[in-house]
Amino acid sequence: MTRLDSPNTATRIVGRPIDRRDGPQKVTGSATYAYEKTGAGKALVGFFATATIGRGEIETIDTSAGEAMPGVRLIVTYRNAPQQAALDTGNRAFTTRARPILMGRRIHHFGHPIALVIAETYEQARDAARSVVATYTTEPGTFVYAEGHPVHQPELANAGFAGSTNLGDFETGFATAAFRVDQTYETLPHCAQPLEPHATLAHWEGETLHLTTSHQTLRYIQASLRTALGLAPENVVISAPFVGGGFGSKLAVHADLMGAAIGARMVGQPVKVCLTRQQMFSLVGMRPWHRQRVRLGADADGRLTAIGHEVLLYSNERDPFIEQTGIVTRSLYTGPNRMTRHRVTHLDLPNGEAVRAPGELPGLLAVETAMDELAEALDMDPVALRVLNDTTTDPESGAPLTGRTLTQCLRTGAERFGWSARLRQPRARRDGNWFVGMGVASAIRTHFQGATEVEVAVTPDRRIQVRSDITDIGTGSYTILAQVAAEVLGVDFSEVDVMLAHTRLPAGGGSGGSWGASNTTAALHQACLALLERAGLPAGPGLVRQTLAAHPAGLSARGSLPSMGNVPNWREKSRHTYGAHFVELAVHRLTGEIKVRRMLGVFSAGRILNPKTARSQLLGGMIWGLSAALREAAEIDPRRGNIVNGDLAEYLLPVHADVPDVDVMMLDEPDLEANPVGVKGVGELGACGSSAAFANALYNACGVRARSFPVHLSSLVPELG
Ligand code: MOS
Repeated sequence: MTRLDSPNTATRIVGRPIDRRDGPQKVTGSATYAYEKTGAGKALVGFFATATIGRGEIETIDTSAGEAMPGVRLIVTYRNAPQQAALDTGNRAFTTRARPILMGRRIHHFGHPIALVIAETYEQARDAARSVVATYTTEPGTFVYAEGHPVHQPELANAGFAGSTNLGDFETGFATAAFRVDQTYETLPHCAQPLEPHATLAHWEGETLHLTTSHQTLRYIQASLRTALGLAPENVVISAPFVGGGFGSKLAVHADLMGAAIGARMVGQPVKVCLTRQQMFSLVGMRPWHRQRVRLGADADGRLTAIGHEVLLYSNERDPFIEQTGIVTRSLYTGPNRMTRHRVTHLDLPNGEAVRAPGELPGLLAVETAMDELAEALDMDPVALRVLNDTTTDPESGAPLTGRTLTQCLRTGAERFGWSARLRQPRARRDGNWFVGMGVASAIRTHFQGATEVEVAVTPDRRIQVRSDITDIGTGSYTILAQVAAEVLGVDFSEVDVMLAHTRLPAGGGSGGSWGASNTTAALHQACLALLERAGLPAGPGLVRQTLAAHPAGLSARGSLPSMGNVPNWREKSRHTYGAHFVELAVHRLTGEIKVRRMLGVFSAGRILNPKTARSQLLGGMIWGLSAALREAAEIDPRRGNIVNGDLAEYLLPVHADVPDVDVMMLDEPDLEANPVGVKGVGELGACGSSAAFANALYNACGVRARSFPVHLSSLVPELG
């Protein structure tokens, strides 16, 4: 038993829906974000000019008009940019890759930076950036995949997952199956677009670079700058106290950070750079375009006998990111004959990067739609088909699945949603001019563990202080860490201060991959126990006073968690989070308008630390699923590679009117085999599988099977007949 399971539930703090600590600061505007920060004197402002071709070279660039404009201090181009290490393509982790800017004439994609103007004010910098005139040698690029474009098969996908797996004999198993589904699904590039744009304030103090930035994981920045600028990590001091969303787009270094860093060095003054919303479409990576072939074979009873998942996506040769889309099928359903594989092709587009639920979002959209197609072929209930193929051991590794609750999520959800009222035949349920249908899909998400250190202290000013470099990217880190410390130390929640997101604080695993809460609370739990031991005191309200009586200068202790690679026998268990999505929607029989009526997600992610902040993340993820299925995509111009809808006026997102009441249910059961405190993560889980539930509900409503996403009226309406 951990100290988080105190028997007195009346006083328990962990598991309560406590309001976000930083909420008042955020709603009153007193939470200052990177671009609003000041310090070390007045900052100059940088603004990028960007390329208007998709592939080629700068022939000439004229900055003279801008240089003569008021307030302009410097214009950086490839002619005067300081030397930076080349992009280290060989580094498999896109998160720590060097990201040099303005290093040559080469243009790799539309919107590539060609100049950085540094001026007294934002308006002056923007104006001068618009006055930069470049001519180009344009080369034909490939912006959209077509059959015959070179493709290769990588050994590894992102996050170290095997590129391919094989078990049994897939081809024979599939060929001899009684029922078969063989379908191809296509998804367009998908952008993270957090509300707060990418922004950095930089200044130098001798050889030390100080950064205030909007980022998910500070140690990744240090690793990237070690390569790019040859800076020792201790010479890169970073602070990111508030981050307005990340969704994967703030895991790597981008042009704002490099521009501010080199700009500040060149002018010898602080410089801040913020990407515009439009620039975020080309200077931040996207979820790449995917084409996935899913083949499912089943016996007459619906037992899967063959599962094949082949993923083709773009991954750029100079800045590779191979989304681990095929991994979702590896631990999802049982079945003897299996294969998964990734193949990649290069396109002259902005490079791919992690976008919320990398792998699972597009992967489950394909596989869970295919499962619906199989249920249809078998004339079987889609919930029953999934339950029949559930398993307690990992179908590929043979390891026991910890906290495997897929069936429980499906059954609980079916009951709560009223699934038994669903009519199996499409178009069977009508409401005036609307066809009404229901869909289901499973959710699964891998659980990771990263090296983490946390410190907790009793301070001379009679407070408890939690110290970690983890960021709070809008998820509630400040709040849940105070809850855990208060719980383990037996003190009041209000006595705990949480210091986060500075590189002088102990290094954690950062916020990403749904691991922030699980890593940090496990290490914090241990730190708190170590503090009690050092103090020689029991947990309780007298802790601070008694500790200071013996240690007037205060007392601190650390806790740590090893990375999964350093945990002996980590692979002897297979750890994931689970869920089930249910959707009811209506389709207008003439206009094709889709109205979502109800959404339910039932989730299992181990111990729920704070149902309020957890619900918010899960609910947001479910809406991401809606959006990926029915709304959002970066539309690429096949002639020039520009994103034609690259701003929030045209990049279609669901608004409040598109989203009905969303019901989120959490099975709150600590998974102590996954993590010492039983916590897994919720950041991505809501977005895993959600999209497929919409596609499946659409089919059940109107009989149109969507296999290209997002669903577009131009293909839906003709099929409505
Ligand atoms: Mo996540 S896409 O690892 O922030």
